Amino acid sequence: MYTDKVMDHFSNPRNVGEIDNADGVGEVGNASCGDIMKIFLKVEDNIIKDVKFKTFGCGAAIATSSMVTEMAIGKTIDEALILTNEAVAEALDGLPPAKMHCSNLAADALHEAIKDYKEQHS
Ligand code: FES
Repeated sequence: MYTDKVMDHFSNPRNVGEIDNADGVGEVGNASCGDIMKIFLKVEDNIIKDVKFKTFGCGAAIATSSMVTEMAIGKTIDEALILTNEAVAEALDGLPPAKMHCSNLAADALHEAIKDYKEQHS
């Protein structure tokens, strides 16, 4: 029921961990299951140089978290802000309908981290 890409990012998640002195941190919880994702950003000259994540959640949440870090690195703040949950799910070749809500964590946490970055650096 999961695509190869989902299984790959779940079994071998990219960019797991924390960033010391992160420029922005975002955390979101999924109301429907209680899972939590935290994302850390390093930003230089308006470009996202590094992203790390910690997810306490299901396999789909881990796979989408991993994918969103790969999609965000190298993007400008504004480009990253328009990354959607749907785009993350699509990049994984889709999620089963019952697991689509899991992808909400990924882009939402990224957007929260960007909001935090903007608040700290305005
Ligand atoms: Fe909670 Fe997937 S079941 S994020």
